[in-house]
Amino acid sequence: MDKSKLIEEIKKLKAEKNAVILAHYYTIGDIQDIADFVGDSLALAQQAAKSTADIIVMCGVHFMGETCKILCPQKKVLVPDLAAGCSLADSCPADEFGKFVKEHSGYTVLSYVNTTAAVKYYTDIVVTSGNALKIVNSLPKDQKIIFAPDRNLGGYINAVTGRDMLLWDGACHVHEQFSTEAIIKLKKEHPNAKVLVHPECKRPVVLLADKVGSTAVLLKYAVEDDCQEFIVATESGILHEMQNQAPQKKFIPVPPEVTEESVGCSCNECAYMRLNTLEKLYNCLKNEAPEIQVDEKIIDRARLPIDRMLELSK
Ligand code: 13P
Ligand code: SF4
Repeated sequence: MDKSKLIEEIKKLKAEKNAVILAHYYTIGDIQDIADFVGDSLALAQQAAKSTADIIVMCGVHFMGETCKILCPQKKVLVPDLAAGCSLADSCPADEFGKFVKEHSGYTVLSYVNTTAAVKYYTDIVVTSGNALKIVNSLPKDQKIIFAPDRNLGGYINAVTGRDMLLWDGACHVHEQFSTEAIIKLKKEHPNAKVLVHPECKRPVVLLADKVGSTAVLLKYAVEDDCQEFIVATESGILHEMQNQAPQKKFIPVPPEVTEESVGCSCNECAYMRLNTLEKLYNCLKNEAPEIQVDEKIIDRARLPIDRMLELSK
């Protein structure tokens, strides 16, 4: 089927089945263009929580589908490709994390939304890159906190708040690739550009930023700020919406660090996010599969920290 026919069929199926398509900013442009709602992980969870559709199609990665299912257990939650995982979520296996939490009684457990439902089961409050700082600041200064799984986001919050949260040693393979050398080189070529950095990047990269924030925060800043050029250190899918909302401005993606292993790769792209294609979206709506399944016992427990997050983000 050609692209325009695929788009037409997806729209037809969506209406017939009362489905809603949610997409993350890191998906390919075609998916963002057809989605009913495009957002960062916080906005996607908020959108799922208030959805009146019978079917939610989550074009993102697996943990985002799980979050939708936990928030809307009575709905059918579909993902175009079940293999769309997340290296950051993978860096925190639930059994090891559960053991770690047990060994640290008295700690409040904060987990980044980029975790499996099974990790959320052991969590007190879920956070996203869009609300982590606000939620940490809402806790008493002397509260002992475990922060998982992203050591970079956790380290950034420790630095900004002066806290000493205990960090799980996880990271995202895409954001860890950005180097200070690449940004400094781009800064020399574009001296007037401002640098936008996602807090999943390493500390030295964050220190070069004019603005640090979630994808939605970086997008808003890029659109509203007077500057006309931006160097963007996050997954390059975000450039689609930046360019859409500010067509007159220039957005320069930070190329990933080139090492012997990474030569020839597009390391500023999340391979998992890119598994969402129009063809798979069409098949998934047509067949109502693959569907996200989460154990009921896990849903009941994992819902609490997500609800706390939504409450604290108001
Ligand atoms: P956001 O919270 O900015 O959507 O980030 C999600 C993500 O997967 C970043 O790698
Ligand atoms: Fe996970 Fe990184 Fe991809 Fe975000 S960019 S979904 S953290 S692997």
